[in-house]
Amino acid sequence: MKRKWWHEKVAYQIYPKSFYDTNGDGVGDLRGIIDKLDYLKELGIDIIWISPIYKSPFVDQGYDISDYYAIDPAFGTMEEMEELLAEAKKRDMHILMDLVVNHCSDQHEWFQKAMQDPDGEYGKYFYIMEGKEDGTPPCNWRSYFGGSVWEPIPGTNKYYLHMFAKEQPDLNWENPAVREEIYKMMNWWLDKGLSGFRIDAIINIKKDLTFSDLPADRDDGLAAGWKMLEHASGIEVFLKEMRDRTFRPHNAFSIGELFNFKAEDLENFIGDDGCFESIFDFSTTQVGMCDEGWYQSRRITPNEYRDIVFDSKKTSCNVGFLANIIENHDEPRGVSRYIPEGECSEMSKKMLATVMMLSYGLPFLYQGQEIGMTNMEFESIDQINDISTIDEYHVAQRAGLSDKEALKAVSDMSRDNARTPVQWSAEKNAGFTTADSTWLPVNPNYKTVNVETEMQDENSVYHFYKKLIALRKNPEYRETVVYGDFLPVWQEQDRLMAFYRKSSEKTLLVIANYQKEEREIPFAHRVKAVLLNNAEVFEQADGKAALRGYQAVVLEVE
Ligand code: NOJ
Repeated sequence: MKRKWWHEKVAYQIYPKSFYDTNGDGVGDLRGIIDKLDYLKELGIDIIWISPIYKSPFVDQGYDISDYYAIDPAFGTMEEMEELLAEAKKRDMHILMDLVVNHCSDQHEWFQKAMQDPDGEYGKYFYIMEGKEDGTPPCNWRSYFGGSVWEPIPGTNKYYLHMFAKEQPDLNWENPAVREEIYKMMNWWLDKGLSGFRIDAIINIKKDLTFSDLPADRDDGLAAGWKMLEHASGIEVFLKEMRDRTFRPHNAFSIGELFNFKAEDLENFIGDDGCFESIFDFSTTQVGMCDEGWYQSRRITPNEYRDIVFDSKKTSCNVGFLANIIENHDEPRGVSRYIPEGECSEMSKKMLATVMMLSYGLPFLYQGQEIGMTNMEFESIDQINDISTIDEYHVAQRAGLSDKEALKAVSDMSRDNARTPVQWSAEKNAGFTTADSTWLPVNPNYKTVNVETEMQDENSVYHFYKKLIALRKNPEYRETVVYGDFLPVWQEQDRLMAFYRKSSEKTLLVIANYQKEEREIPFAHRVKAVLLNNAEVFEQADGKAALRGYQAVVLEVE
């Protein structure tokens, strides 16, 4: 495996609306990111991905872009963006933007022109088709946010395709003119000093061009649109063209958001000649999900979590780096999801951090994760802004759940859990803003869970993350933590997550007791050093080691 400039780094995602507000309007902004660069640097962050800040009507919180060359005034100005790039560079940090090019906004000038003349030049920028003979949409695919992927074009018998909301029309990647526009725009940003892009929803750019009906999977007669991906082939031709025309000439970083791909394609995606530098590891986020909707989903168990993480690390080891996450802006908070109900504590948060940070791959933190932010308890659907949660709420209601049950069902999965403002202090509105109100409610636990408190306490989750990051960067251990083999051990033991990281020079052993009960495990190693421990002691003698509930230790062994 070829070594890359970013392999030894640590990355962090910023969801700008909720990061830090400096102009007192209750919405985070670019100046807020600039102000917090030193905070991130001190934590040990090198690469920052910022969710979309382009001009947008915000139907899907910026994932609906109306102008790729402009910063939305909600976040600031282009000058501030340039300042951010310069300030990051000064600190040897890298900025990534979000590349949302499966679709744009219905307010984008391309789409506006397409609607004026669906058969004209810009009509070909989108997927526009006639309906079936009976006037119904061309096929029965359901959009990710509910309802048909096809929206009628008024005054015609035609429809346009949108895999997400109807305000997010899909761009037609089969049209070379569209691809040229996209590459031109990407190079424009890369030339400005951007270090790369996180690439949104990219697996969707290749459609099953037969647009055939699929077997219905809910009683709305539709089938999840993503199921067409199984019948769509040839995406790598587009991806490699994009790579060669944009990323490669800039030695830039690219990280794809990809679901539903086949394991055998991993080499093709992140191998030495892969389409991307990295892709996110979403394997644990898929467990327990169900065709009927979120209301039918179930929690992943600790053993499932372990087995899935281990499988994906074993598969990627020596192929390329997956990005290790426990949450992002589309998922509930990891500590509320992966730690069984009632067991979320400082200990268990640190345990989850340890396995995430020391597994094979690129650690990719999400804002607030470093202080152990948790899910929000939503009291009413009116507190929720997210388009997808609102759709799932209605799905649950239609299935017969009461309003209260439907709210409970979607609350645990809601994307807004991760989107509440970052809790900076115990002051009003968690020190996120000076405004009286915030665009999404602040999680009421901010009085105890906040950056200021965490920084003051040497034993906090924050300091534990900082130590984990420092260990990855420590010249003595870097080679092993970053590039060492990943070897699971004791997998037959219930609720134990243990693995070696092994290089030619050193062997590290990570042991995590994924339960609140204490336990003993057989332990025959000679310990050279206890590098990290979320408990006060690590006891071992007579071929056994004793572990506290949720204890996580990182050992250097012989
Ligand atoms: C994935 C993004 O992460 C999500 O927030 C968005 O809703 C969809 N793609 C559509 O762009």
